[in-house]
Amino acid sequence: MAKYQTMIGGYKIPSVGLGTGTFEKGKEEVVENAVNAALELGYRHIDTAFMYDTEEIIGRVLKRWLSSGKIKREDLFITTKLPNQGVFADKVELFLKRSLELLQLDYVDLYLIHTPIAMEFIDINTPGKPVVADHVAVWKAMEQQVDAGRAKTIGLSNFNIKQIEKVIQSSRIKPASLQIELTVCLQQPELVKFCHDNDIVVVSYSSLGSPGIGKILAQKGFDMPDGPNILGDETLKKIGAKYGKSTAQVILRFFIQKNIVVIPKSSNPTRLEENFNLFDFSLSMDDVKEIENLDKGESGRLFRLSQFIPSLKEHLDYPYPY
Ligand SMILES: NC(=O)c1ccc[n+]([C@@H]2O[C@H](COP(=O)([O-])OP(=O)(O)OC[C@H]3O[C@@H](n4cnc5c(N)ncnc54)[C@H](OP(=O)(O)O)[C@@H]3O)[C@@H](O)[C@H]2O)c1
Repeated sequence: MAKYQTMIGGYKIPSVGLGTGTFEKGKEEVVENAVNAALELGYRHIDTAFMYDTEEIIGRVLKRWLSSGKIKREDLFITTKLPNQGVFADKVELFLKRSLELLQLDYVDLYLIHTPIAMEFIDINTPGKPVVADHVAVWKAMEQQVDAGRAKTIGLSNFNIKQIEKVIQSSRIKPASLQIELTVCLQQPELVKFCHDNDIVVVSYSSLGSPGIGKILAQKGFDMPDGPNILGDETLKKIGAKYGKSTAQVILRFFIQKNIVVIPKSSNPTRLEENFNLFDFSLSMDDVKEIENLDKGESGRLFRLSQFIPSLKEHLDYPYPY
């Protein structure tokens, strides 16, 4: 099974990356240690976003690795994302330049529109109220970032099929990737097939069900309960026991076998290693089928943008059915 997926235009994305979106507030050292440990283990793909507040720390770690000569820039794959207050044609460049400054890089490998929802720009760190976005105009500004050499590839996150189709139809540079929530409870086969049919590499976020997310979001003032305990699922445990693998490894391997990239977050060196070692076993077709049967459809969704702002459910650009 490939350790890389090839994106449109031939650019390669490592099949396993490090997620950095869900660290507890004020834990800079934990983020720094996690990124360092991941690079030591051989991770070369790091997922961040302007919204996560981890770009600056990642930048510091990367700077050390790059200037010591331990790693070359072309061996890394760095993804970051345009926040909601940047989903305007005249704001894309501002935000990407700021992310590059924080990351201490000349370019990112993948720049994503974080969500289809635009929020008024109050200042660079402050989103205002939700407004309707012009995705076609914003995409043109994303394409200009590729032309300017600030992003090697560009893509989308949390967009639905209709929204992606609209971007594709008007695009000069096609979206290279879509990052979406994919867990065993929310497998989104139709959206994944649409992407694969259009040569869009799918990246799964919160693949492990984001255990502990309730506590992390509570620190940021949001009230969202933890999702189901996916890692404790008996079917997955039984399958793992057959291969001598953990539940997390079974889940991540399941997605990799479906040509889906995974970006699990961990701050624990043992778990970081576990999540990276997915290439010495293969799930049988029967086991894949059994895991497919765990799909609960839309009711299995963990993150809904409306959990953060309830009125978003009525918003024209709200990407989910409810
Ligand atoms: N585009 C978007 O809108 C969006 C939304 C959400 C997330 N993301 C991205 O996707 C990344 C991953 O999603 P996520 O952080 O929500 O959730 P996740 O990767 O599903 O789960 C992370 C949690 O699982 C624990 N964990 C990690 N490996 C484990 C293992 N092998 N065994 C047991 N527990 C394990 C971690 O705890 P320890 O740290 O203690 O190991 C951490 O609390 C994010 O960090 C972010 O980069 C993107």
